[in-house]
Amino acid sequence: MATTLTDQLEALAEEARSAVAGVSAAEELEALRVRLLGRKEGRLTAVMRELGRLPAEDRPAAGAAANRTKGVITGLIEAKRAELEADGKDAASGTDLTLPGRARWRGARHPVTQVIDEICAVLARLGFTRARGPEAETDWYNFTALNTPLDHPAADMHDTFYLSPGILLRSHTSPVQIRTMQAYRPPIRIVAPGMSYRRDPFDASHAPAFEQLEGLAVDEGVTFVDLKATLAEFARGLFGASAAVRFRPSYFPFTEPSAEVDVSCLLCGGDGCSACKGTGWIEIMGAGMVNPMVFEHVGYDPERYTGFAFGMGPARIAMLRYGIPDIRLLYEADVRFLEQFA
Ligand code: PHE
Repeated sequence: MATTLTDQLEALAEEARSAVAGVSAAEELEALRVRLLGRKEGRLTAVMRELGRLPAEDRPAAGAAANRTKGVITGLIEAKRAELEADGKDAASGTDLTLPGRARWRGARHPVTQVIDEICAVLARLGFTRARGPEAETDWYNFTALNTPLDHPAADMHDTFYLSPGILLRSHTSPVQIRTMQAYRPPIRIVAPGMSYRRDPFDASHAPAFEQLEGLAVDEGVTFVDLKATLAEFARGLFGASAAVRFRPSYFPFTEPSAEVDVSCLLCGGDGCSACKGTGWIEIMGAGMVNPMVFEHVGYDPERYTGFAFGMGPARIAMLRYGIPDIRLLYEADVRFLEQFA
């Protein structure tokens, strides 16, 4: 008789083990607990009732076996409950635990900032360090010291924002050349990114506030060859090993001789496409040898020192690189647009 009871208890424990394993919701587990251990209708209670019918000498051992089984089943149920709670919510609550987590929105550098940082990194390999200057300038730094008399037509070339008589928002980053040469003696090699301002209409290709990036190198014996080699290396570093540069004669008051610098078209590689208007070349900067008149203004001996300078617009380069059709997109701070460049 006792053997039979023990067998029943073992079978019950075995049944409980597989039933608990199949449970996936807390409500289901509670129903199972009542079915197995419930005081009135529970299966274990039913077995325990049989105890009374055993011979007195068998009861203590059978009672102990029943208690062990109760402990085993309770343990199984508690372990399952803890497991379900650890899952946070269970499937019955309507939460789909298989959904992927929500990605956290992460900030990133603006595409123009990315281009600026890249240019600075390429030029850093050639020994150029970053410099900066104020955005509110005097007309002496913005024009006069750069060999551009205020009544010279070149001063009108940039439609300038004046803050007060003689004080303006710099129309280019070239005044940083002057401030750097006043502060340091040659050799000088700087790259100066920063905002510039012009009274231009805000349209697809002009912004009244835009980044420029200025380069300046001054030392004894600097030649046009150094300028060409530097800019060729810049083009390869930024646009790839097959990028080439081309120089066309131009005019800036602060450089002599001066050049417009083209880079082989990034999109068609020089074959001719709509981006380069069929020429295979895209103009990306102005450059030239520092005009000796500029050296006079900062107290450098023009017989001893020579130098080169260049200036470009990183926003235009970002537009070329990413195929951005309208410069205004870069300045509207629309996250839906900007996050594409993260
Ligand atoms: N400052 C010139 C511009 O804004 C660019 C330039 C810089 C040209 C340095 C030559 C040398 O157009």
